Amino acid sequence: MGKRILSAFAGLAAGAALFAGGAHAEESVEVLHWWTAGGEAAALNVLKDQLEEQGVTWQDMPVAGGSGVQAMTVLRSRVTSGNAPTAVQMLGYDIQDWANEGVLADLSDLAAKEKWDDVVPKALQRFAKNSDGQWIAAPVNVHSTNWMWANKKIFDEVGVEGEVKDWDELIAVLDKIKEAGYTPIAYGGQPWQDATVFEAVVLSTGGPEFYKKALNDFDPEALGSDTMKTAFDRMSKLHEYVDPNFSGRDWNLATAMVINGKAAVQFMGDWAKGEFLRADLKPGEDFVCQRFPGTQGTVLFNSDQFVMFQVGEDKRDAQIKLASAVMSPTFQIAFNKVKGSVPARTDVPGDELDACGQKGMKELAAANESNQLFGSLAHGYGAPSAVKNAVFDVVTAHFNGEYTSDEAVKALVEAVSAAQ
Ligand code: GAL
Repeated sequence: MGKRILSAFAGLAAGAALFAGGAHAEESVEVLHWWTAGGEAAALNVLKDQLEEQGVTWQDMPVAGGSGVQAMTVLRSRVTSGNAPTAVQMLGYDIQDWANEGVLADLSDLAAKEKWDDVVPKALQRFAKNSDGQWIAAPVNVHSTNWMWANKKIFDEVGVEGEVKDWDELIAVLDKIKEAGYTPIAYGGQPWQDATVFEAVVLSTGGPEFYKKALNDFDPEALGSDTMKTAFDRMSKLHEYVDPNFSGRDWNLATAMVINGKAAVQFMGDWAKGEFLRADLKPGEDFVCQRFPGTQGTVLFNSDQFVMFQVGEDKRDAQIKLASAVMSPTFQIAFNKVKGSVPARTDVPGDELDACGQKGMKELAAANESNQLFGSLAHGYGAPSAVKNAVFDVVTAHFNGEYTSDEAVKALVEAVSAAQ
């Protein structure tokens, strides 16, 4: 009985403290994101835990759908109805589009205090600041899209030794895998996934300058070139190695096919590594990571950034805590180890990352030095979404046999020009 009275009293006291301290004890952030696959959710938990340690409650707003297509639709309706989340996972040009609408919060004071200017790669700062140079987003990682992930056992069985260097070697390997009775390519037939494979194929076919001209600068000559036709022909070639159920498959289910030994390779960004790690597989022993054949030396990047929306004063403190947590060096290491990406800071050591992560970090730095670092079109860093979606439509229609390669090249030139 005495105990009960005491605890009732303690409850009252806590209530009074809460009242006296304003909203402090109830700080929360609502975060909209599309990290619903196993490896992604595990990475996000690192952030949730860190904030909860600081007394900030995490209100989760997940919207499934790779690369955030659906999440961006939900965001639009939230903002339209005057109910923006505290923070939103976002990519490249979408950040700039929202900045231009004047609805984002300014993080410049925090950024100055924590010296973000000195440590965030310049390629990301371009997207994380608005046209007035104010910080509006906190980048949590750098991903790269031109990777190939392979089941090591299958590679060993068909005698793949070392890197698959170029397109011809890739085709020879895929043929051997087919003969051995496996599905060569684990493929998810969704427009953003088609485009992820396509951009690697374009890079491999035309080289880095061609990639930039075609899928960053949208030069009509490059878009309408014979090289582009070859890239489309190569997409048709890859189609010969996918299973009949590829259509609509989620990317992480395709990764699971490689993990389970049903398929040999997946062409996907390094978020796929998060799934391998989550299944307790070791790089080099159980799975192989290498650049998409013929793209070695070039890095197509994207970066997940937490964009902060203007919120009421009562939510501001928690929002700043979130931004600061995202940028902290210890968090960047802990998060990226799980996510498959690399830190969005140039001053953190990579030695805690696995072999693929260390390779990715070195290659990112080298590509940056040698100007071989380009924005991924499929993941929002090549063009605003109108142009991006125009490319998606053509690539997907062609992959599904609606266009010949000649028709696809023409359609690409027209669709891009109409969307610009
Ligand atoms: C990318 C994003 C990654 C990963 C992937 C699959 O656009 O940058 O973090 O989530 O989509 O959804």
